Amino acid sequence: MLRHSHNFQNILGKTMCGIVGYIGSKPACTIIMNGLKRLEYRGYDSAGIATIENGILVISKRAGKVADLEKIINPTELTSTIGIGHTRWATHGEPNDINAHPHSDFSGNITIIHNGIIENYLAIKKKLLLDGYSFKSETDSEVLAVFIGDLYKRTKDLEKAVRLALTEIDGTFGLVVMSVYEPNTLIAARRGSPIVFGIGEDEYIIASDASAIIQHTRQVIYLEDNEMVVINREGYTTKTIDNQTTNGEIHELEFDLKSIEKGGFEHFMLKEIYEQPSTFRDAIRGRLLIEEGNVKLGGLRVVADKLRNAKRLIIIGCGTSWHSGLVGEYMIERLAQIPVEVEYASEFRYRSPIIYPDDVVIAISQSGETADTYAALREAKLKGATVLGIVNVVGSSIARETDAGVYSHAGPEIGVASTKAFTSQLAVLSLLALYLGRLKNVSSIEGKRLAEAISAIPEKIQYILDHSDSIKAIAKEYAHAQNFLYLGRGYNFPVALEGALKLKEISYIHAEGYPAAEMKHGPIALIDDNMPVVFIATKDDVYDKILSGIEEVRARKGKVIAIASEGDTQISKVASHVIYVPNTLPMLMPILSVIPLQLLSYYTAVERGCNVDMPRNLAKSVTVE
Ligand code: AGP
Ligand code: GLU
Repeated sequence: MLRHSHNFQNILGKTMCGIVGYIGSKPACTIIMNGLKRLEYRGYDSAGIATIENGILVISKRAGKVADLEKIINPTELTSTIGIGHTRWATHGEPNDINAHPHSDFSGNITIIHNGIIENYLAIKKKLLLDGYSFKSETDSEVLAVFIGDLYKRTKDLEKAVRLALTEIDGTFGLVVMSVYEPNTLIAARRGSPIVFGIGEDEYIIASDASAIIQHTRQVIYLEDNEMVVINREGYTTKTIDNQTTNGEIHELEFDLKSIEKGGFEHFMLKEIYEQPSTFRDAIRGRLLIEEGNVKLGGLRVVADKLRNAKRLIIIGCGTSWHSGLVGEYMIERLAQIPVEVEYASEFRYRSPIIYPDDVVIAISQSGETADTYAALREAKLKGATVLGIVNVVGSSIARETDAGVYSHAGPEIGVASTKAFTSQLAVLSLLALYLGRLKNVSSIEGKRLAEAISAIPEKIQYILDHSDSIKAIAKEYAHAQNFLYLGRGYNFPVALEGALKLKEISYIHAEGYPAAEMKHGPIALIDDNMPVVFIATKDDVYDKILSGIEEVRARKGKVIAIASEGDTQISKVASHVIYVPNTLPMLMPILSVIPLQLLSYYTAVERGCNVDMPRNLAKSVTVE
């Protein structure tokens, strides 16, 4: 696989949406629009383009597809040879024409496209409002544009203004800046969100991934974090945002389009599994207050009192989102000691549920469009509950229908089988549990311990991914099994359900997830020497009980695949295969223990020749009943 190459390591990372910039001798508009189409596979919700025509910035932008943008522009009128274009995947403000990029400063003379999240945009916006600036959109990106404009007013130097702004920014960016003040210059910069800079003959192309560049040139520079490139018609300079020159090593693109689109991975699902260290980081970005042992969830401020006084939380969702709700139940009950019920949205909506006014209902959904979850949410609202959302897609139906909520910021998920959206939901639920716990009786010291453990998760996920070679061999060995059983207890019981669902969805092997102790009440009858049984057997309060379960399976010649804590020397004596994961607090273990199960189902499906990204009979979002 290509993913080990330096180039791909470099363009992976953040997954927010598309950037294309062009300066050269050809009409920029056509090149940019073609580039945006190349980036369409990433998923996005709006698109926009800006060029400089006779000294004036001409901007067109639109919610929807690149084809919708195409309808409102006339390429014959856009003859400029410099321009920028964007496909947005909303994080701040719903997808509409105004929130689409490019965004401009107060004068309308400087414009930017931005991927990523500006964490401290509210503080900067507040200051700019005091200085008399106003804003058109709800985005964090416009704040950066106006900020750069303000700094330009003081410095009269575009590059300096960009550098100064970027040193003040917390968060992530891949961005390109263009201005009529310097109509032959493009400035691109990166932190956390990829930027590839292509060097052609008499032309330069900037993009968020190489697929928009490869048809023009194979000579590229991958910007590093906090690095920028200043380009004009004579040449370019790479430097850090602190103005230190860098050497800008040029690489040769050796890959074909298809492999670039998937970041060098064979399937979107695998790419998304590997994105989890960074998507988890995005979900907690700017939200953890480690020193105070607390959490800042801006989206919940308006309902803080409701949450403090809630007598009961009801979590609703479907499929994988329902599984994350189950983990949330364990987390919240443990930390906040508020009773939590988790229910399938499809059941909840038709059950005439009894709802009290001080109930808080939380809908969990990746797409924000799942019909059952949406209907259940409306039902809860009708009955007077406060309704919250944990949703990935900004501005989606569920997000709009809730009173408040927290976005999970996993970026677009293309593979039908949900992976990174699940761990991002768990990230948000762990933050929510800590937040509610701190409103109740979790001390700041315990809070700090938890916050530190949450912030250490991304590197632990990375560790699992880096040590996952054995999983492929296990998948090969059992790929022809007819059935699989997944068992776990406590926090890891929902992981057993999720592991089984993943396998079913993409490999079409029948799989069941059970709480481990339930095995003896029925499923044990299935066990014989053909039956692989996956135990999630990490070290926690119920470890010894899990070991007894393993013995029971062994006694019936079942094949045990155990997910175990690193350092566990006992488990290899009883299990046929062991996949180790690093240690963390039991509450956070599902975020780690699910990763090997995602990979196991992935490699099994590949081994069986299944269509991993688009399994039969399934849709990415189920908008029908
Ligand atoms: C997960 O792998 C599934 N494809 C499916 O169960 C999914 O989680 C479910 O349809 C809910 O979708 P949502 O999170 O977009 O609401
Ligand atoms: N945070 C920005 C927005 O919501 C950029 C999103 C993106 O990466 O597409 O507009």
